[in-house]
Amino acid sequence: MISIDSIDSTNRKTKELLVQGESEGLIVTARTQTAGRGRKDRSWYSPIGGLYFSIALKPRIGPEQAPLLGLLSACAVARGIRSLGVENVRLKWPNDVLVQQHKIAGILSESIQVDDNHLRIVVGIGVNQNCPVSEMSEHLRWPTTSIIDELGKETSIEALLCSIVNEMDELLQAVENDSSYAVVLEEWRRVSSTLGTRVRIYEDEKTTDGIAKDIGEDGSLIVETDEGLMKVVSGDVAHLGGME
Ligand code: BTN
Repeated sequence: MISIDSIDSTNRKTKELLVQGESEGLIVTARTQTAGRGRKDRSWYSPIGGLYFSIALKPRIGPEQAPLLGLLSACAVARGIRSLGVENVRLKWPNDVLVQQHKIAGILSESIQVDDNHLRIVVGIGVNQNCPVSEMSEHLRWPTTSIIDELGKETSIEALLCSIVNEMDELLQAVENDSSYAVVLEEWRRVSSTLGTRVRIYEDEKTTDGIAKDIGEDGSLIVETDEGLMKVVSGDVAHLGGME
């Protein structure tokens, strides 16, 4: 594990180290990031007090696994946050972690071709842990919460890192043993706050409203729209509220 005080982005650093020959299992953590990145090329505000780390993984049972590893990581992050005593931790497709519709953690999973035959997936995880939202508000674009706001006290960043990595390891073992992501998909469905909800899908320039019905075996979101079932692979989703 490489622990850095301040870096632009742990995902970028992990990819750089993989290209230089580092292998699967590499973890890079930072106390703060100066150019933390989120999905869709957004920035991820990363003040001291949050948990920021990236982990390099190797696809085990098929090449197109970045979305499924994202769902697996979201389940592991939810378990880790819950283990600190936070209640009502739920998942929003594809891999946001929410408490009462407020974002508490985000995951950016990226594929990288290390050489002709080796694909690696870098999963970057950011958790709002010991930084109160009142001190972050000018940088935030959606309703946000943090572990300190939920519990009213500081918690150990090292302990949360350790717990999330252990949970990821346990889920990866289960996937490998079953040669299937079924166990992850089941857990994701159970903890989801997206399924059964009215959603708005933003894909390229287009928006479509519908009801989130399920996730597919490939991790896509299946939405019932006026035009029939729609499979969302990489769009953005907003919860509109109101259940089916
Ligand atoms: C999102 O919700 O859009 C994903 C946020 C991911 C942030 C983490 S923090 C550690 C890692 N390094 C980055 O630059 N991004 C991820």
